[in-house]
Amino acid sequence: MLSKKQAKLFFLGGTAFFMVIFFGLSIHSLTVGIPENTNADQLNEEILLGRKLWDQNNCMGCHTLMGEGAYYAPELTRVYDRKGPDYIRTVLNTKTGWGPRGRMMVGYDFTQEEVEGLVAFFEWMNNTDLNGFPPEPSLSK
Ligand code: HEC
Repeated sequence: MLSKKQAKLFFLGGTAFFMVIFFGLSIHSLTVGIPENTNADQLNEEILLGRKLWDQNNCMGCHTLMGEGAYYAPELTRVYDRKGPDYIRTVLNTKTGWGPRGRMMVGYDFTQEEVEGLVAFFEWMNNTDLNGFPPEPSLSK
């Protein structure tokens, strides 16, 4: 049995030990992990324009990125790999609203520059290292 003093020391020591680990890992994530995994050094004006348009046009009202957003329309984290840049351009250039399978997207009136910004944003997003997210669907029965 621990004495009261030993229990107190055990509690304080354990708390301090895990706090150091917690803050160390947090600082590592913010200074090394996130910038490396997201290729932050490759961000440029074109990608940032796409990001701005993503926010301004409430794409998240229907889509998800990194799992964040709404579930009406497809997840777009890896859409650049899945569909390719030309497919994305076609979707974004459809003025009447893209919707070949019934569910409709908003028809936007993007300029060519804005479309390329969004494509660049999706390409950048595609190259982020998300530790295996989104997972490949299991095709086994
Ligand atoms: C009102 C809901 C809605 C909003 C808002 C919306 N979308 Fe969509 N989007 C859809 C739907 C629904 C589809 C799928 C249509 C289909 O192929 O059946 C889609 C498809 C796409 C696709 C192709 C994805 C795939 O896997 O086929 C891309 C890329 C895309 N949207 C980008 C955007 C961007 C960028 C914005 C913001 C500027 C946006 N969407 C806003 C509903 C929306």
